[in-house]
Amino acid sequence: MDADLDLNGIEKLLAEMTLEEKLGQMTMSPAGSATTGPVRGEATTEAVRAGAVGSLLNIWGRVATNRFQKLAVEETRLGIPLFFGVDVLHGHRTVFPIPLAEAGLFDPVYWERTARAAAREAAADGADLTFAPMLDIARDPRWGRMAEGAGEDPLVGARFAVAKVRGFQGGDLAAPDSLAATAKHFCCGGAALAGREYAAADLSDRAVHETYLPPFRAAVEAGCAAIMAAFNSVGGVPMTAHVPLLRAWLREKLGFDGVIMSDYAAIEELIDHGVAADRAEAAGLALKAGVDIDMVSGVYFSALPEALSRGLAKMADIDAAVRRILILKMKLGLFDDPRRRAKARRSASGAAKKLALDAARRAITLLTNDGTLPLGENIRRIALIGPLADAREEMVGPWTLAADPRQCSTVLEGLRAALPDREIFYQQGVTIRGDDVSGIDAARAACETADAVILCVGEAARMSGEAASRARPGLPGRQRELAEAVLATGRPAVALLFSGRPLIVPWLAERARAMVAAWFLGAGAGAAIAEVLTGRFNPTGRLPVTWPRAVGQIPIFFAERPAARPANPDDPFTSKYIDLPNEPLFPFGHGLSYAEVKLDKLRLGQEEFRPGDRITVEVEARNLSGRAARETIFLFSRDRVAAAAPLVLELKGWAKVELAPRRKKTVVFTLAAEDLSSLDADLAWRLEPGDFDIYVGLSADRRFLLSARLRCRPA
Ligand code: BGC
Repeated sequence: MDADLDLNGIEKLLAEMTLEEKLGQMTMSPAGSATTGPVRGEATTEAVRAGAVGSLLNIWGRVATNRFQKLAVEETRLGIPLFFGVDVLHGHRTVFPIPLAEAGLFDPVYWERTARAAAREAAADGADLTFAPMLDIARDPRWGRMAEGAGEDPLVGARFAVAKVRGFQGGDLAAPDSLAATAKHFCCGGAALAGREYAAADLSDRAVHETYLPPFRAAVEAGCAAIMAAFNSVGGVPMTAHVPLLRAWLREKLGFDGVIMSDYAAIEELIDHGVAADRAEAAGLALKAGVDIDMVSGVYFSALPEALSRGLAKMADIDAAVRRILILKMKLGLFDDPRRRAKARRSASGAAKKLALDAARRAITLLTNDGTLPLGENIRRIALIGPLADAREEMVGPWTLAADPRQCSTVLEGLRAALPDREIFYQQGVTIRGDDVSGIDAARAACETADAVILCVGEAARMSGEAASRARPGLPGRQRELAEAVLATGRPAVALLFSGRPLIVPWLAERARAMVAAWFLGAGAGAAIAEVLTGRFNPTGRLPVTWPRAVGQIPIFFAERPAARPANPDDPFTSKYIDLPNEPLFPFGHGLSYAEVKLDKLRLGQEEFRPGDRITVEVEARNLSGRAARETIFLFSRDRVAAAAPLVLELKGWAKVELAPRRKKTVVFTLAAEDLSSLDADLAWRLEPGDFDIYVGLSADRRFLLSARLRCRPA
């Protein structure tokens, strides 16, 4: 193979390829053991040798990747290297907090750092590309994949996308420690009907463009190398065959010229969607929409020839797909040195582990606290109760492939190490999902003589992530009985909730003295939790999703449109429930700390602006407490009147501020006039003259926002 392959070289190579070799490049096959659906078209050594496979998924390790690469380069007719794709959702060898938890840092620097560290490890394991970041906006905690993304808000999603793409890809895609990023799942999987995995998303075009596409646009603008089409349909069209979104929007409007791949067997599943009668039709539809790589169904390889002869597919589309795949391989430096990544030296895991602990402590979100936390010196005897107190494997969370759970510390270990002079009584009580309640008595007994109880409850790691929809996202098994028994002792109880989504436990929030979202924090879990419980770290996590009080409130998010009759407590004929408040249990952005920060004196740099202007927004943040504070301050807006009903609140930015005890600081935001644009009738972003409200606050709870009025003048 020509070491200096350039675009001309790619054209020459393309001209030499047989149809079968082209279809081989368009075929990805599973070679490892991690699969999420039926394995079809298994990548056998023979298939690689025959040039019938262009990439392999979820295989890692130098020996395995080198073995296949050698076959591809040395034994196929054209010697085109394979690329290896791996899911790296929150770390490869070293486990970072799940993305939903990491989103709660509201810190692009960390988002990028963890992706960089994960890319280094995965590349050293032979990976060239990752199926990440996951950019689905998620507003329905029944949907288990909420765990894999950055939550409910498109601006957070967009910033998360940029940070992750940068982190994975580094400055140079060809570097031996860079991975090609794959923005997935394009798009709207988070809007699946009733939160049911793989179900259809039936949304207005406005909702798609306003809410679900911004993270993908940001990923493309950041130079993301690949995109994965989603399993679901949107507006009746399966995403794997979605010409308006894949071709017209992504390729033509945004100019995305990277590779688009199917999600797993999604091309074949076009038959299940009912839009293709057979495999040839399925292949033709996906190709027409612009899907370059068939991840596992083998439909392109087996059925595109028939699709061609039936006039369902065009040779030019096949060539364009193969060209994009070869260009990706070129950009990854694979023609130059096909084993460049697997040869790279493995980075010392010490730095990654430190980063994992740091991200974990920053992700922990203190939801309620009556002052019981941090645990005081007077707390000498601690009862540590629950099935997640000493659950090493669960700390890993969903979606990791190469992670060894032994790296994760448990709460029991963390507390014992942090508080060696206290007595800690551990009782599991019940298992996460089981029916056996025989351990509850011992748990109750352990609490009775304790100064404080730490109750560790929640989901099993595998109850979130893919194929983990829950109609009742509360505490599974008999954990509520355990919790009730513990609470009934009257000992001060702190609840730690482990989950990949907000769990619906209003009763626990009400009765525990403090409640902490401990998500799935990865390697640093136990140690990080102990730091927060003891007050050595002042919690900083903020909710990237609205936390409902009942399943009946779902979907729930702050950026909704006004109701015809906004809720009014005194008027029954307004938009509200008769049996519950509209308000969530915790708003987006919520998260307490051991300090107390108050916002005041909101000031705008000007009262009026025109397109092209920059607007400054200032607010004073005052630390009322005797502890150093690290606060996240959110900036929102609302268009007063617009052609399409404007959202009641839109996130426009956030700032992080550090405040010494009893000190104040002025926090300055800069807003571009265009940040206040909305989608016009043709779904183009446009700034409409008129009045806007600007809000600043510590969460999206509208009752506590400071506000100021701003007027947009025509250009
Ligand atoms: C998931 C993707 C994942 C792929 C490969 C699919 O089932 O939806 O997110 O990247 O499997 O592992």
